[in-house]
Amino acid sequence: MLIPYFVLLVLAESFVLPHQEILTSSPAEKDPNAILSALRDAEVIPDVLDTFSPLLSITANWSSSAKTSLGNTLPPSKLSHRPDVYANLLPSAYLPHGIEYVFALTDPDAPSHDNPEWSQVCHWLATYRDGDVHELVEYKSPAPPEKTGKHRYVAVVLVPRNGTTEALDLEAPSERKRWGFEGERAGVREFADLNGLKVVAANFIYSQNDKQ
Ligand SMILES: *[C@@H]1O[C@H](CO)[C@@H](O)[C@H](O)[C@H]1NC(C)=O
Ligand SMILES: *[C@@H]1O[C@H](CO)[C@@H](O)[C@H](O)[C@H]1NC(C)=O
Repeated sequence: MLIPYFVLLVLAESFVLPHQEILTSSPAEKDPNAILSALRDAEVIPDVLDTFSPLLSITANWSSSAKTSLGNTLPPSKLSHRPDVYANLLPSAYLPHGIEYVFALTDPDAPSHDNPEWSQVCHWLATYRDGDVHELVEYKSPAPPEKTGKHRYVAVVLVPRNGTTEALDLEAPSERKRWGFEGERAGVREFADLNGLKVVAANFIYSQNDKQ
């Protein structure tokens, strides 16, 4: 069975899409300041990201009842397969048509928030351009170990800094742990720097092992 795992919809204008109806029970946050403040409250900024200008709202959903909502908690059992990803331009934001999007799901709290020696762990890295999805790192379900408390799982969308609409030539990280870079909590930031990318959207959940 073919699973449509990566549905990235970027709109030049806001208009109604079928899926928006279903998302209305918990609409994606559209205020850039509210997005940034949720990320700061959870220290996603600065642990994972620097302050950025949100251009998109994104929602990753593993089922209709399990989706990222800026810091909600979901059990690992609901995260066993790849989520769908929805993205919409924020009001008055602009991104060139045909630009390549890079999507990452990363865990900065591995093996635990207080001892992030494996962090960040890359759970998924994929690109989207003109309807084509390319997976650089296959989806690996979050599996926070026993007694390691809550982990943050951060979903990020990046685009080329120089705004090119050419296809990008990205190299997959050599390892999931620290994304193959040196240092604690090394990952999406280093990957972005290396590849000339900038963050334009983020969302996150918490998840923890049942045994604490
Ligand atoms: C994500 O949500 C949409 C809308 O509710 C739904 O159609 C889709 O099946 C969900 N994705 C997954 C992987 O369950
Ligand atoms: C724009 O950035 C991309 C990604 O870093 C790079 O591959 C490309 O060569 C750059 N293009 C220009 C015109 O600078």
